[in-house]
This record gives sequence, structure tokens and C-alpha cells, in this order.
Amino acid sequence: MNIIKVENNEALSEKAADMIEDTLHAKENPVLGLATGSTPERLYEILQKRCHDGKVSFQHATTFNLDEYIGLAGDNPNSYRQFMNEKLFNGIDIQKENTHIPNGVAEDPDKEAIDYEKKLADAGKIDLQILGIGLNGHIGFNEPGSDVKSRTQVVDLAESTIEANARFFNSMDEVPTQAITMGIGTIMEASKIILLVQGEKKAEILSKVLHGDVTSDVPASFLQMHKDVTIITDIDA
Ligand code: PGA
Repeated sequence: MNIIKVENNEALSEKAADMIEDTLHAKENPVLGLATGSTPERLYEILQKRCHDGKVSFQHATTFNLDEYIGLAGDNPNSYRQFMNEKLFNGIDIQKENTHIPNGVAEDPDKEAIDYEKKLADAGKIDLQILGIGLNGHIGFNEPGSDVKSRTQVVDLAESTIEANARFFNSMDEVPTQAITMGIGTIMEASKIILLVQGEKKAEILSKVLHGDVTSDVPASFLQMHKDVTIITDIDA
């Protein structure tokens, strides 16, 4: 794993934006894997600016997000579809029909997961996958105990994840307890992966990812087995 240590979130976001820009320039029809969460917010702002300034174009890009909450429709302010529209897609020249996020209110969520996996396969390999990491080591919503070969599927969220997400909702009862997430096996098929790690509270889990065993107790530790992972971390983490 390559590790890039930077001063702060601004530098982390610039570095990640450079790598996305390289992929957009290198590929005729780039396929990007995208993540939600607080960590990539600044990255997405930078990408909007670069697109606005004509430095990058997403016109021929296709994107696949990692996950979506079950029970939240795409127009729910807490849905990841809404997050991505607001933080990135509305401010770049991407064709909306080329942006993919699982449908959290699909009638049959298991079928939705299988269909999502098919769409991914049809698009070809993900050229560059952006990941964040949860305090418990999850990537996407692959919580501790996830299988290394897992594909896109319906999962239960860990108690700690539900608590961490509660800050976005009015009450605990409103926090979704399930999601559709790309599997670890799905994520591992990306040609290139960038893991963004920001803030002191991620230091302990990052240390396990870097120096600990490869174990489903720390899902991000599976990244040790991928041939092209770059971890961009700020000094605090
Ligand atoms: P965060 O979320 O960027 O808000 O810390 C990361 C994650 O839970 O995957």
C-alpha cells in the first residue's frame, strides 16, 4: 500500500482530486467509484471548481457509489443520492443517467443489489475507487465480520455505525438500520483504490489497517491484499 501523509484535509482533498483528474484524462470512458461521508466533501468541492474552470470534464464518466440506506428515497435529504447530487453531481458536467447509486426504496432490495452488481459488470472495471473508513474499519457499509468475497448486498448496520450516523437525523428512531452496499469482493475488483483517512479519531483504526492482521474484524485490512491502494491520510489520523 502506498501511503501519502499530508498536513490537513485541504491537502488530502487536493491530492485525491489530482488522482481523479489523472484518471479522467487517461481514460476515454472513465468509471469512478465514489463514497459519501464527511471526509470527501472538500474533494468534491475541488472537483466542482476544476470542472467549472475547464480543467476536468466528467462528460464521458460513469460513477458508482458504494452504498445507500434502505428506506430512504433519493429525494430524502439524508439519502446518499441527495448527498451526491448536492455535493458533486449538480456542480459538474456529468450526465445524470451515468451516476449510479442503489435505490434505497426498491420494492425488492435484494434484487436491487443484484441488479446494481450487473450494472457495474456492464460498465466494466472501476478505474478508480474512492473509499472512506468507518471508526470500526468498515469500507462502504461492509461492517466487521464481512466476507472478503462479498458482492453488492443488503446488510445490517453495526450499532456503532448507527450511532455515528445519528448526528444527521432528528432522532435515533429515524436512523436507518440497513443499507445496500457494494461488497468487499466488488470493491477489491477496482483497478485502483484511494482510501481517505482524516482526523485523530481515525488514528487507532488506521494503525490496525496498516500494521494489523488481514481480518474480517477490520474490513479495511483486506485492502492489504489489493495491488494498487493509496492511503491518503492527514497528520492527525
Ligand atoms: P466519514 O465516514 O468520512 O464521515 O468519517 C466514513 C465512513 O463511515 O465510511
